[in-house]
Order: sequence, then structure tokens, then C-alpha cells
Amino acid sequence: MSLFRKKSIAAVVAEAGDPNVDHGAPLSGGLERRLDAMHLTLLGIGAVIGAGIFSLTGRAAADFAGPGIVYSFIIGGILCGLAGLCYAELASMLPVAGSAYTYSYATMGELVAWIIGWDLALEYAFGAVTVSVAWSGYLVSLVQKTLHYELSPTLLRLTKGPFETVTGLDGVVHPGLWNVPATVVSIVAAAILYRGIREAAWVNNVIVVIKVAIVVSFIALGWGVISADNLYVNPHASGLLALVPEPHRILREGHSVLRYGWLNGGVLTGAGVVFFAYIGFDAVSTAAQETKNPSRDVPIGVLLSLLICTVLYILVAHVLTGVVRYDELAVPDPIAVGIDRIVELRGWSPVARGTFTFAVKVGALSGLTSVILVLMLGQTRVFYAMARDGLMPWFDATHPRFHTPYVGTVLTGIFVAVAGGCLPMSLVGELVSIGTLLAFVLVCLGVPILRVTQPNANRPFRVRAPWFVGLSGTAACLYVMYFLPLDTWIRLIVWLVIGFVVYFTYGRRHSRLGRADSATNPA
Ligand code: ALA
Repeated sequence: MSLFRKKSIAAVVAEAGDPNVDHGAPLSGGLERRLDAMHLTLLGIGAVIGAGIFSLTGRAAADFAGPGIVYSFIIGGILCGLAGLCYAELASMLPVAGSAYTYSYATMGELVAWIIGWDLALEYAFGAVTVSVAWSGYLVSLVQKTLHYELSPTLLRLTKGPFETVTGLDGVVHPGLWNVPATVVSIVAAAILYRGIREAAWVNNVIVVIKVAIVVSFIALGWGVISADNLYVNPHASGLLALVPEPHRILREGHSVLRYGWLNGGVLTGAGVVFFAYIGFDAVSTAAQETKNPSRDVPIGVLLSLLICTVLYILVAHVLTGVVRYDELAVPDPIAVGIDRIVELRGWSPVARGTFTFAVKVGALSGLTSVILVLMLGQTRVFYAMARDGLMPWFDATHPRFHTPYVGTVLTGIFVAVAGGCLPMSLVGELVSIGTLLAFVLVCLGVPILRVTQPNANRPFRVRAPWFVGLSGTAACLYVMYFLPLDTWIRLIVWLVIGFVVYFTYGRRHSRLGRADSATNPA
């Protein structure tokens, strides 16, 4: 049996044409086609705007890019745009639940498809874990800093996992016990997904309206009070030059928005950090099999949601670093700090300040909830596709009434709830980025490969200059991966090794394609 046996595009398209097509497994219901381009665009925004913009932006500006964080977002947007175009072409050709996993199955064969399907768990399941931990942090900040309710040490210990510590009111440091809010929000998201794709999309739509309203209000309120003093850093005047490592002292004279220059340690490192903020737009493609007209709507959903989020991010970054000096932004809730400053600059009352800060934090909490929801949706659909191909057990069982992959949803919910309850964000955050970048690399390579191997396949959405887009997307993702820390690479390799063990002990032997090959070519 070949490790590189490929699924034919015709077989994939046949599955897409009829979601209830029988592949030899007893299906109890099949997925339902309920979504349109609008739902998909909102799902994309739901997955994207979250912890990245509400938490990471501040640290990326303070530690790396300074006010040049705007350029970091532009670079991140271009990188994701290249990958997004490749996703759009492949999704229009192969509109099924498996997304990058299925594209790799048709382009690079079963083993690579397995690697990418397994790797996507880093983006979707571990992404949901990371964001659930950030959700818990925002909840504590809302309760303690905004509502001024001091949590007792025991309650605080129930907001952090056992590998972290909390400091009580008395200043005593305690070990965390279990991150209960992270666990609870994951269970709620899993319950919504279990109930139905329409229900999940409805909850997501409501949340997206709330969080986009918060983000747009932030931009609108802050735009008029941006100060050039914050945006243009004069290294000589501020004495900052002495703090800048010698290789990065690129701009020695005059005023600059760049604190550390462009290269490693500056804007590009900032782009690597804020890349997390873009993760999730590709989750749209995993809903292809629940979309009424996937060949048209999935490309629209992927690209439109990415475009809207990119524009919002650039504007938020500009306003944020324009109202607060970048070196004051090394906080977990930079947007709340920003709105505080905007209210102060506008001379509004303390009541207005309390109200806006409360609104931002509630908006952030609801925003993070939809990220968890859509990332978990992506996880269940990718493992669903893998199980239908025989590479995984259980995940393809669909609920007879709700038409959702309910066993996979329960298993994913348990995994995210437990991991979110005990793992620290520092352990999983960059793992999510490296896993996503690896998926992007294979998707970007898939476009030129399929142009050569399947030149006549139907491509409802065609990327112009496929070689340039595919190869520059690949190079850009590899570049960002290269600068991620060594321990993140080690964790990626450990995760992939676990995947190989599962594949060689289960997947390879149960592969439907493999069994069909053996039936037609008995040894
Ligand atoms: N892009 C998502 C977020 O920032 C993962 O939370």
C-alpha cells in the first residue's frame, strides 16, 4: 500500500455533490447544507477577531514593533491574503469538510494529508484551548478591575491551571488549581455546536455584530484624539536609542514610527506575534459541506472575512498606538487601556469611562467566545472528513436529528475543556501559530501542484499568477516559522510524532482508499 496514494478530485467532488453519499460506513444522518456566503463571512470574522487583537497587540507593540505595529498587521494581512487566495481556489475545486486535509489528499497523497489533518488540530483544537484561557483572563479582569470585585485567593486559584500561579490580595503567591472559566466556556461552545450548524451560525452572527460594533466604536472614538507624539518616536529625544540592540538601529536620525526597525526584533517579529490575530479565516473552508453553494460561497467567505478583519486590525493598531504610547501597552488588555485613555483625552466623566471599559471587556469576552466556537467547528469537521476516509475512528458519526458530527463534537469539547483547564497559554499559543503556518505552506504549495497535475479540473475560483502566489505564500510562511522559538518547533515535532504513531497503528490499516486499492490490486 502506498503512503502517497491520492484521492481523485472526481471522488472528492462526488462527496461534495451529495453529502450523504455512502462511502461504505453506516451514516446516521449526514451534514446539512444550511449556510450561505453571508454566514460564512460572519463565521470567518467570528473566528478571527479575538485574543490576537484584544490581548496580543499591546505586547507586540511594546516589545517589538512600537507604533510600527501597523506595518506588522499589514505584513500579516498580506501573508494571510496569499494563503487565503490559495484556500479560495482549492475550496472552490474541492468543497468538502476536510479543507486543507482534503486538498493535500488530492495533491500530495495520504501521508501528507494525514500530517496536515493531524496538524490542523494544532490550529483548531489548540487554538480553541488558547483562546479559552485568554477568555478566562478577560473575565477576571472584568470582575476585578472593572466591576471592582476582589476575588478571594481560593476563587482566583480556580481561574488558573495547576502550572500557573496567582497572587492573592495578601500578596501571597498560590499555585493555580483549575481554570474553571476556560473549561465552562469550552463546554458551552461544544453544546452549541452539538445542537446544530444553524444554531451555531446564529450565535456567531449575534456575537460578530457585538464585537465589530465595539471595534468600530473604538476606532471612531479614538480617531480624533490620536497624538503624533505617540506615533512618531524620536530615539534621540527620548534616549531610547540606547535601549535598541545595535543591529536594529536602522533609523538613527529624525522621527520614525519604528522602534526597533524592520528586521528580527522589530516589525517582522511583531508580524509573527500578531499572526495569531489572523488565525481562523480558513476555518470557513471546513464548513464547505454545510454550504448551499460552496464553490462560490467558500471563496467569498474566506476572502471577504479576511479583508474586513485586516482593515479593522490596521485601523485599531493605528488608533491604539496613537492614543497610548507603545511602551505603556505591555498589558493583557490593551484595548481596554486604549478606551480608558480615549475617554480621558475627550474629557468625559468617570461614569462614561466605566461604561466604555465595561463594554470593551464584554465585547472582548463575547468575541473570544465566537473564536472558540468556530475553531471547534473547524476541528470537528476536519476529523469528520478524516474519519470518513477511514483514517480516524468515531468522528464521522452524525446525529440523526441535529445533523452534526456529535461524537466528534463531544470528544473535541472534552479535549478543549480539559486542556484549557490545566494548560498555560504560554505553552500552547505559539504552537497554534506554527501549526497554522504549516497548514498554510501545504495549501500554498497545493495550488501550483494541482495546476500541473490537474490542469483541466474545474476551478470556479482561479488565482491569477498561481506560481507567484503559491510560492511567495509558502516562502512567507516558512520565514515566519523560522523565527518561532526552538521549543515551539520541538512541541510541533512531538505532536507530529504522536500523529505518526496513530496513523501507522490505525489510519493506514483502515484507510478506505487503501482498502479499495487492495481490493482492485490484490497482492
Ligand atoms: N484569530 C483568533 C484570535 O485572535 C485565533 O483569537
